Amino acid sequence: MSAPGHQGSGKGAAGDPAPRLIQPFTSRWFVFLFGVPLTYAVVRYHLIKGVEWSHLPLYIANKAISLAAVVFIACSYLIGRTLRVYADDPGRRLVLIKFCGLIGFSLAAIHAFMSLLLFSPEYYPKFFLENGKMNLVGELGMAFGVLSLWCLSITAITSLPFMYDAVGADRWSRGQRMGYLCLALAAGHVLVMGLSGWLAPAGWPGGLPPISMLAFFAAALPILVKLLWGNTKRS
Ligand code: HEM
Repeated sequence: MSAPGHQGSGKGAAGDPAPRLIQPFTSRWFVFLFGVPLTYAVVRYHLIKGVEWSHLPLYIANKAISLAAVVFIACSYLIGRTLRVYADDPGRRLVLIKFCGLIGFSLAAIHAFMSLLLFSPEYYPKFFLENGKMNLVGELGMAFGVLSLWCLSITAITSLPFMYDAVGADRWSRGQRMGYLCLALAAGHVLVMGLSGWLAPAGWPGGLPPISMLAFFAAALPILVKLLWGNTKRS
């Protein structure tokens, strides 16, 4: 969640406080990275599929929030490793990397809460048996989700300003790398839950791919970049 290779306690030079994560430029990133998934969910589900607008606050918003969570986390790692965003301003770049990671974590937590409120055969029939218990897809999908959130929590905790000094460079880096495991588990989470829909493109509203499929590719990209480029492209 912090830049790979980030050194120090999160304070600036001479004990200055760490720069604020919420700034005009990070707000613009938020509007874009959250606005696109929200627009996509509204268009796919309300405008094309005809889902009632009464489901926007929780059921549909949850879809947008979960996709945005994956996108923010993926951006945090992609910007840290490959994308040449703000290449001439490392301070701003580090703020953006941290911002994306922490916003991704908070959105994933909101998604988990919302999903648990909604989790019922009425909203998600494909995860349940007729007797009301979860089926294998439901149990496996939820297990991946919970484990993914756990990995993300470890990564977020190691991002706290004092943690680098408290645990040392090696353990701090290991904690940061848990983010990749979080992404792998999130990819498993959406693969298990969404695969049947991915394989039936005729049923995609307006031909728009399922959100779970987009999230799978977003989660897989940073992992692929890391596997292909290893440590050679670290910022
Ligand atoms: C306790 C943890 C979690 C629970 C209970 C949970 C629950 C769920 C549920 C019930 C769905 C199906 C939603 C739907 O089809 O509308 C879902 C989908 C999804 N989840 Fe999670 N999840 C958890 C963690 C996570 C984490 C950590 C991430 C990302 C880092 C994530 C990302 C997603 C995405 C992108 C979808 C696809 C949404 C869609 O297809 O519309 N989830 N999750």
